[in-house]
Amino acid sequence: MGCPMKHQHHHHAQVEKPSVTEIPVQTDLKIVWIISIVVGLLTLVLALLHYKYPWLKYDLLHLKQMFRAIRRYTQKVRRNEFIIDTFELTVTKHPEKIFIIYNDIHYSYYEVNQKANQVARAALQIGVKKGDTVGIMLYNEPAFIWLFFGLQKIGVTVAYINVFLRSKSLAHCVEVSQSNFLIIGDDADLDSAIEDIGESLSDTEVFSISEYESDQRKSFKRIMDEQSTDDFPKECRADVTKNDICQLIFTSGTTGLPKAAIISQDKALKGSVVCSTFNLGPNDVFYETLPLYHSAAGELALFNVIDTGSTMVLRRKFSARCFLADCRKYNVTVIHYIGELCRYLMAAPVTPEDRDHRIRVAFGNGLRSDVWRDFQERFNIPHVAEFYGATEAPVGLINICNQLGSIGRTSPLLKKIFKIEFLRYDHETREPVRNKINNSCIIAKPGEVGLLVVKIHKSVKFEGYRGNKSDNQKKLLKNVFDEGDLYFDSGDLFRIDDNYFLYFRDRMGDTFRWKGENVSTSEVTEVLNTLDFIQDSNVYGVEIPGCEGKAGMAALTLKEGQVLTQDQIKTLHRQCSNELASYARPKFIRVQKQMSLTSTFKQRKIELIDEGFDPKKTEEPLYYYNPIHEQYDGLTDEVFSDIVSGVYRL
Ligand SMILES: *[C@@H]1O[C@H](CO)[C@@H](O)[C@H](O)[C@H]1NC(C)=O
Ligand SMILES: *[C@@H]1O[C@H](CO)[C@@H](O)[C@H](O)[C@H]1NC(C)=O
Ligand SMILES: *[C@@H]1O[C@H](CO)[C@@H](O)[C@H](O)[C@H]1NC(C)=O
Ligand SMILES: *[C@@H]1O[C@H](CO)[C@@H](O)[C@H](O)[C@H]1NC(C)=O
Repeated sequence: MGCPMKHQHHHHAQVEKPSVTEIPVQTDLKIVWIISIVVGLLTLVLALLHYKYPWLKYDLLHLKQMFRAIRRYTQKVRRNEFIIDTFELTVTKHPEKIFIIYNDIHYSYYEVNQKANQVARAALQIGVKKGDTVGIMLYNEPAFIWLFFGLQKIGVTVAYINVFLRSKSLAHCVEVSQSNFLIIGDDADLDSAIEDIGESLSDTEVFSISEYESDQRKSFKRIMDEQSTDDFPKECRADVTKNDICQLIFTSGTTGLPKAAIISQDKALKGSVVCSTFNLGPNDVFYETLPLYHSAAGELALFNVIDTGSTMVLRRKFSARCFLADCRKYNVTVIHYIGELCRYLMAAPVTPEDRDHRIRVAFGNGLRSDVWRDFQERFNIPHVAEFYGATEAPVGLINICNQLGSIGRTSPLLKKIFKIEFLRYDHETREPVRNKINNSCIIAKPGEVGLLVVKIHKSVKFEGYRGNKSDNQKKLLKNVFDEGDLYFDSGDLFRIDDNYFLYFRDRMGDTFRWKGENVSTSEVTEVLNTLDFIQDSNVYGVEIPGCEGKAGMAALTLKEGQVLTQDQIKTLHRQCSNELASYARPKFIRVQKQMSLTSTFKQRKIELIDEGFDPKKTEEPLYYYNPIHEQYDGLTDEVFSDIVSGVYRL
């Protein structure tokens, strides 16, 4: 501070000089010191944090990508944007960009928008109005997509009807969706399915996207073709709010009739940013073979593609033979999977071209860890973005850190931001464990299995199902921690590891009890599936009269043949004794020609459990564990009655 003054006193210069130059040096040094100390302290703090919380680095990566998605969503909310606006913005931004490739035909964003404009006008002409619900029942094809966006332009609810539904369940879905109109694809089987349930459709007008008309249904296409392709005025949807219902999507339960999950405009918007967690962008090509009438394809994939303006290569249905060839042909960068699909791809013979593609991300759900590593290695896929999100769940989870086998993260830090919790769970009562003193639930610790629940509050709502209100109540859990609080009960169990990564464990009820122990069906499945002759296995518990609990049974599908060879039986037994606790080893084996699956390739157990191990109820080969031979033997009628009457004890 005094320096300039001292400068002027030249005769003092000699004395003063050193201090003149010294002072800056001292300041420099001071700064250097301060910086060093700060850096040192920071390093120390980081090292301590890393030592104490080794998982923090995953949290930071996770948060960075989550915030990218959240920012995208909040921008839309601020702009008062809905999913149809997202689409129209992308159309304006790059009209010539290819939106859909289907059967080698390219459809630009502009072209799809023109079709959607026609759909909107045609819908008005047939009498659709705000507040109506229009059901659409089509196989994967571009018309599915322009019907959806066209109907959004006039602010109505679109119900996705599964094309494989027939008779009673089809009638049920159309009825609970309260569809005043139903538009079906140009397929003979859809025509006859509708004809079959004709009587129960008295309140629903049926149209087809075919040119042809019948008494049952009119041609929507003819009306569409008469309409202008000009931009459809936004005023028609001016009074749409974020709580209005955008879509109804049926959840394909493993039991019972499908339920119509409500996707509000707000939830649709939230869904549209999920893929920004793995940086989906305009240069990506997204390969879609899953049915559009489920939320995975018809909500998540579709909305994320339009959000980023990327290209969707759409196929009518999955084909293991065409999968990689298509990926090469179209320069696909993102594939959309469900676990079974990866398993089918793995079953194909290895070829040198397996790694010849540009896939950078596999996005999907249900990839079990027994296939995951092999799948990722064989096809050289850099990132697996495994996603968890039931259609009706208010939140989803996603693997951002490329952690093998995991579906995402939780942690003390993350829990503060995303209000999800994992509760300790009682497999017997099928309820969360409660604290005896004040009846509050107990949080599962790392290393434990927990039931995912989500706190319902003002920005996280459970939108429920249309129709039966008692179904909504079943998904809610009250008084979890405090009197009067309310949580969404996912019914899904997750294992939490020491770094707070989450692994899907079981759907509630997929655990059974034997000899006082809990057997996780997915754990047994994974052990069996590592055997090279097994294509897939479906594990469940069956009742034996006079025995407590359920005995383990595995329905296997084999890679070749439909009968186990003696060697394979031995290997199977060895694998089970090596890898599983004695109570978890299957007591019965059944060999199936084809796995029992739901239309979303989830394993169906209900019929298998009913048939049990009774040779009279199935033609398929059955085996039982013979404790005397310590081996699996063929199960005959005599053995069956010996087991049932308690002569044989397993
Ligand atoms: C795929 O990429 C190659 C090389 O960049 C290019 O020559 C080819 O035209 C692309 N194919 C498609 C279908 O875009
Ligand atoms: C099995 O589950 C029951 C009920 O959830 C629990 O009390 C018991 O401790 C579990 N047993 C084992 C061995 O984990
Ligand atoms: C609602 O569903 C439950 C079973 O899920 C059934 O018992 C009840 O009868 C249904 N109610 C109506 C009004 O359909
Ligand atoms: C119930 O008890 C547990 C453990 O004693 C405690 O952590 C929790 O805060 C209590 N909850 C209420 C609502 O008092």
